[in-house]
Amino acid sequence: MCQIKENISLKAYNTFGIDVTAKSFVSVTDEDDLRTILSENKLPLFIVSGGSNMLLTKNINALVVHINTKGISSEIKNDNEIYVTAKAGENWHDFVQYCIKNDWGGLENLSLIPGCVGSAPIQNIGAYGVELKDNFVECKAIHRETFEVEVFDLETCKFGYRDSIFKNEIKDQYIITEVTFKLSTTKHILKTAYGAIEDELKKSQKNLPTIQDVANAVIAIRKRKLPDPSEVGNSGSFFKNPIIEKGDYEILKIRFPEMPHYPISDTKVKIPAGWLIDQAGFKGFVKGNAGVHPNQALVLINKTGTAKGNEILSLAQFIQKEITKKYTIPLEMEVNIF
Ligand code: EPU
Repeated sequence: MCQIKENISLKAYNTFGIDVTAKSFVSVTDEDDLRTILSENKLPLFIVSGGSNMLLTKNINALVVHINTKGISSEIKNDNEIYVTAKAGENWHDFVQYCIKNDWGGLENLSLIPGCVGSAPIQNIGAYGVELKDNFVECKAIHRETFEVEVFDLETCKFGYRDSIFKNEIKDQYIITEVTFKLSTTKHILKTAYGAIEDELKKSQKNLPTIQDVANAVIAIRKRKLPDPSEVGNSGSFFKNPIIEKGDYEILKIRFPEMPHYPISDTKVKIPAGWLIDQAGFKGFVKGNAGVHPNQALVLINKTGTAKGNEILSLAQFIQKEITKKYTIPLEMEVNIF
């Protein structure tokens, strides 16, 4: 049975590297232990797995439960399909690499995303033309009060752009314990249309790329653009790319003709927040111990390693204010603030 500890620093448990204290802390490696802890605990709960999508602005007056369950299993479905199930505490990137090593295709574009398997469905992680939902079959989750295990399939999860039912209707009600993906075993469908991937594959002269080549391309692009959380604290994209009305975009286009834009329906257009922040002059901007990453303006960083959560939050709010002033576009934070 895992041990509950008091007054533990959470610096190593969040990728921003913010040094706040948990009143109580337990790292859980077994689902039965998790159930026992849930049933015996009297404190409010605070769940952490990879800690890659959170900004901690104060000490956590709760029982912090670190989900550290491990294990991967698979089941062949037909001559081109395998279901692969990973426990929530598996490191996401290691899991993706494990699939690629076994020549199971589908997740390669999601290489090097920080975090763990269990939190990936919550915000439907995505990168380079692929989202988690594209290969998702189901996940299992324990209800925090009844301790019952429930299964959520693709439809029940209500996935959207960096969104799911776990962020909305049933927020904070469940703990995801494992996730099952549907992957290809022979006829891989490579997603290489994203401009940066095409360029990278051309550079390495891969005419008939494998899933490993696509993963390598993604890894190379991410390494160039995004800071490694083990070197510089960060949480990936801090803001979501805003989705605005087409009519509003047409008006903005007159003043900002070079603004990149991606139609997502007949009436809506997605604008890259990184471009807006960059063009507003924030790339590489530093405020106290917090900053904007010099290679990707969408990423806020713990510049000195000693930033308080509130310093990063106040930089984020300053950027939001300036972007609204300049473009009349509200920026929504992707990262959860505590
Ligand atoms: N751009 C700039 N300046 C910047 C950053 C971006 O001008 O500092 C421009 C780029 O030139 C490009 C456009 O903005 O025209 C889009 O940039 P990029 O392809 O780098 O992607 P992004 O929209 O900034 C999104 C995801 C990333 C994901 C990439 C690749 C969101 C919030 N972010 O970023 O996800 O890796 O696409 O698919 O959707 C994350 O969620 O943590 C994350 C890193």
